[in-house]
Amino acid sequence: MKSPVTVTELLKMKQAKEKIVALTAYDYPFARMVDESGVHIILVGDSLGMVVQGKTSTLPVTMDEMIYHTKLVSSAAAYAMVVGDMPFMSYQAGISEAVTNAGRFLKEAGAAAVKLEGGASVSPVIKAISNASIPVQAHIGLTPQSFHMMGGFKVQRDEERLLADAKEVEAAGAFSVVLEGIPADIAKKITASISIPTIGIGAGPDCDGQILVLHDLLGLNERKLPKFVKQYENLGKIARQGLENYVKEVQSGVFPSKEHCY
Ligand code: KIV
Repeated sequence: MKSPVTVTELLKMKQAKEKIVALTAYDYPFARMVDESGVHIILVGDSLGMVVQGKTSTLPVTMDEMIYHTKLVSSAAAYAMVVGDMPFMSYQAGISEAVTNAGRFLKEAGAAAVKLEGGASVSPVIKAISNASIPVQAHIGLTPQSFHMMGGFKVQRDEERLLADAKEVEAAGAFSVVLEGIPADIAKKITASISIPTIGIGAGPDCDGQILVLHDLLGLNERKLPKFVKQYENLGKIARQGLENYVKEVQSGVFPSKEHCY
């Protein structure tokens, strides 16, 4: 069995121009499938607020909920690096609280790293968490926890600011940075101008790696999907068909049949 992916291996993959594959997961059965598919990073994203809890944003997700889901994923992942996503207000109110909360992901939930949203404005937080020996993945561009400030979930196009944010988070000690919702040409420039791996989502093909939300990729999110999503399967349709068949068969007396009886 291969040993778990480390931050040094991810850096080497960037240097060797080998694409890094990342995906979210939130529970044991899916995390196991994702891990066994060869994905390098499993992010336990706060996107679970929308795709698992059915909320309209990620803002209500709590630290305890993130710890619970990260535990489930860590217990399934043998190869992929598990990254715990720091939820809204778990790192914004103060550096000491941010370090304590980041530590919970490693200490209680078995993650190997944490992710948090923001560029230059959160670089002191990234520095403090990294100094506590907790690897940090940064996240710049369209940062969903700031949708009220951004006026919605909008593509971010300020090249100068995006480049500055990428350099700041690298200087603060981030081992990698997620680039979300930014034009492909800007993502390409950022990727060439920093030495840590960039992981794109809605940021074009030239990032060092890609990430998607599992439920979007598998057709389990029945809301309108962003342009950058590719749906590889439609498990939602298959699940609905199975459930309808079950209801019909129970009502018509087809199930349980002799083979299901003792
Ligand atoms: O919460 C999440 O799933 C994320 C990814 C979309 C990068 O932040």
